[in-house]
Amino acid sequence: MTVQQASARAHTNIALIKYWGKKDQQLILPMNGSLSLTLDHFYTDTTVIFDSSLKADQFWLDDQKHDAAKISQFLDLVRQHSTQRFFAQVKSYNHVPNAAGLASSASAFAALALAASQAAGLNLSRQALSRLARRGSGSATRSIYGGFAEWLPGTTDEDSYAVPLQEYVDWDIEMIAVIINRQQKKISSRQGMERVVETSPYYPAWVKSTQADLLAAKKAIQGHDLATLGELAESNALKMHALNLSAKPPFSYFEPQSLVAMRLVEKLRARGICCYYTLDAGPNVKVICAHQDSQIIKKTLQSVFAPDQLIEVFPGPGVQLINEK
Ligand code: PMV
Repeated sequence: MTVQQASARAHTNIALIKYWGKKDQQLILPMNGSLSLTLDHFYTDTTVIFDSSLKADQFWLDDQKHDAAKISQFLDLVRQHSTQRFFAQVKSYNHVPNAAGLASSASAFAALALAASQAAGLNLSRQALSRLARRGSGSATRSIYGGFAEWLPGTTDEDSYAVPLQEYVDWDIEMIAVIINRQQKKISSRQGMERVVETSPYYPAWVKSTQADLLAAKKAIQGHDLATLGELAESNALKMHALNLSAKPPFSYFEPQSLVAMRLVEKLRARGICCYYTLDAGPNVKVICAHQDSQIIKKTLQSVFAPDQLIEVFPGPGVQLINEK
């Protein structure tokens, strides 16, 4: 029996300028560039073991066996690019406090890209890892890097990957995740973005205005300008959710409690506290703020939400190999 294995850890990221629509479904090439912050708190540990005695790929998540179809497709890409021909056992653990419903395909596929490529004997550059992770899930493209990362949309498999903008964030920015619903979303991000590209009359305006948002956000990051970055992120998120409302048939990820959290953030801002919100393909709200204001923000949010619904998260590192378990 021959066994080759590797383990990797990747952290999830939250997009400040969103990816919402593909121009190539197969290769996962996005319509527009995007920009995110990798977080310290939420991560996935994955071990890949290529094993000559296996008859099929296997996937275990948090010690439970799951359907391996999507993982197997991804492993096929790795096998195509290496001399590895065996099936693999993939074991993943999601580290998300209280199963917060923020588990993301970003950390999952970034960790799988590094663990699988290493176990297959490939020593990929971070650019190549980012391209590989992209084939599992778009947002995983950016989780290869820590801190702020930008996904360059590209036009082919070769030129669509993320680049680091500021890997070590040396200024005061964090997020408070407001956990509103821990359940699986009804419309996956894949389905949601496909529908808006096909049916929203606003889609061309989204692509155009997001390009401008991205440039302005990069400038704000360079200048450590939290207020400008937060304003851009909030407005970009609302535009993404407006696409969903304008699709045919329309859909929304908001829940009543999402709107309550959004209003509280706006109220805090009216009181002079620098905080902004963003939402992804789900109802949870992420508040962007500085650490110096996090206590007062949490206190205000606690007028409605329980303490365990509020999780403070900081900038986190890129993907790395870890000791095998
Ligand atoms: O990577 P996916 O297919 O889960 O899509 C992610 C989409 C958003 O989270 C809403 C935006 C983004 O850029 O991460």
